[in-house]
Amino acid sequence: MSAIRIDGKTLSAELREKLKERVNALKARGITPGLAVILVGEDEASKIYVRNKENGCEEIGVKSFSYRLPETATQSELEELIKKLNKDENVNGILVQLPLPNGLDEQKALALIDAKKDVDGFHIENMGKLLIGTEGVVACTPKGAMYMIRSTGIDLSGKHAVVIGRSNIVGKPMSVLLLGANCTVTMCHSRTQNLKEFTKTADILVAAVGKAKFITADMVKPGAVVIDVGINRVDGKVVGDVDYDSVSEVAGYITPVPGGVGKMTITMLLDNTVEAAERYA
Ligand code: GUN
Repeated sequence: MSAIRIDGKTLSAELREKLKERVNALKARGITPGLAVILVGEDEASKIYVRNKENGCEEIGVKSFSYRLPETATQSELEELIKKLNKDENVNGILVQLPLPNGLDEQKALALIDAKKDVDGFHIENMGKLLIGTEGVVACTPKGAMYMIRSTGIDLSGKHAVVIGRSNIVGKPMSVLLLGANCTVTMCHSRTQNLKEFTKTADILVAAVGKAKFITADMVKPGAVVIDVGINRVDGKVVGDVDYDSVSEVAGYITPVPGGVGKMTITMLLDNTVEAAERYA
């Protein structure tokens, strides 16, 4: 069996066309959506992600405001910047690229962002809303992954979804979204014993492990939907958490890396930014 590829590039292109129309409608009312992107320090991967986010803004007509703080920036410098951006009427979304350098308090910084401008969906208010199932901003990577799962057209109700990884950014919100879609959800993580016993029974398998090609064909149920959230650099090449070549012989659907979830994450960031601007308007 050869899995159907869920192509993040194609899905993103369709969504970005619609986003452009929404941006143009806002501009006709005199509002240009604006996203402020804060990068602290010199993490090379973060620099690439941030550049991709800013390029995404440009593509659909969102204004991006770049803030680069040095590795030595203090908590209060970061917090003053966030407070200033909270008040700035040209800024509809604020993104603090994670991880922050050692010594800076991530949660304290995120909690300072006006929840209405929290386009990452990391603020406790938005996380809380997600948990209880009321409308808030949903984190971009799980939102994009969910869109890809839904694009298969598979009825999710009662399906067994296994999420590997329990981060605040991906694993936890992803599990809640799948639960909201009436899946039976199992969360696995680095301390899980006999991982394969869980993954083998997954109708939907989401890998957010951070280890290159960690998921192999023998761990996957035939016909499963396999979503690869991993971005690992091996010998200068970007590879996912899933061994694409072998797993695509077993799975029903699979996302590639690159051109999969990563692309969708940025598209969902743009969606959240445009939505914030529409709410403001
Ligand atoms: N670091 C890794 N993923 C993300 C993300 O989605 N948003 C932010 N702000 N930082 C990240």
